[in-house]
Amino acid sequence: MAVNMKGKSLISINDLTVEEIYQIFEVSKTLKEELYTGKPHKLLEGKTLGMIFAKPSTRTRVSFEVGIYQLGGIGLYFGPNDLQLKRGESIADTAKVLSRYLSGIMIRTFSHQDVIDLARFGSIPIINGLTDLLHPCQVLTDLFTILEKKRVLKGQKLVYIGDGNNMAHSLLHGCSKVGMDVVIASPSGYTPDEEIVKNAKRNAAYMGSKVEIMTDPIAAVKDADVVYTDVWASMGQEAEAADRKKKFMKFQVNEELVKHAKDDYLFMHCLPAHRGDEVTNEVCDSPNSVIFDEAENRLHVQKAIMALVM
Ligand code: CP
Ligand code: NVA
Repeated sequence: MAVNMKGKSLISINDLTVEEIYQIFEVSKTLKEELYTGKPHKLLEGKTLGMIFAKPSTRTRVSFEVGIYQLGGIGLYFGPNDLQLKRGESIADTAKVLSRYLSGIMIRTFSHQDVIDLARFGSIPIINGLTDLLHPCQVLTDLFTILEKKRVLKGQKLVYIGDGNNMAHSLLHGCSKVGMDVVIASPSGYTPDEEIVKNAKRNAAYMGSKVEIMTDPIAAVKDADVVYTDVWASMGQEAEAADRKKKFMKFQVNEELVKHAKDDYLFMHCLPAHRGDEVTNEVCDSPNSVIFDEAENRLHVQKAIMALVM
């Protein structure tokens, strides 16, 4: 039975029920098929999506903007210098004002609390397009991509190698919710947030799966169905990039490391990739790599999210 998600904000995968997650996948699949077969699906005719970007973006911006257009609505882009937020207008006032004009807001910013506050003070759905803490739209897309390729999520083992960052956090939320085993291998000092790990362990226990945090990438990747990595220095951490590069070199996803995964493992990366750092060209461009299908699916999954909540 369909779950009504209208009006709901998407700030963290952890706020979604398993039924809501699978409903997003169902709608994504339908919209993808309809797009391929030229069937119109103007589900958001006349609706407006505000897109606030305090950080750069290729995939998120283009997929949301094209997505709202394909659904019959329009997207308004606000860069880092465009809104009065830049000059100190509060998140609360911004949320209240924008709620009078728009049907929904997608926001990419630094502080996760700002997104929570936008939803708290606004009266329209807020979609998290990445914060320093989480990247839920990316991980919902990743799970949808794994489902397309492997036909099932429960019981698959996803191994994330690298920084315990926003991607690691949302993967912990998402994989544990759907009953996948998730292993995170990070250098010590760069492991994921402990509260998020605890919470993922609770989700996993309920679903009969496992969550492990390790510092040995080779042990972690053993028998992986999915090997995932992300940049070593995220947006906003540019000053630490050189220091991190030294500390993370052992965590590079290269041909030697992926030998320990299953033969039919999927290589995934949210992109942008820093080829030669966290991943080599050989792995990125290997037949196991699904990075461009993953990027394409951002469009289909975010259209589903918008269609369901707006
Ligand atoms: N993966 C992702 O969010 O890419 P962008 O930073 O290009 O939006
Ligand atoms: N961890 C990366 C993800 C980019 C999509 C960042 O926050 O920059």
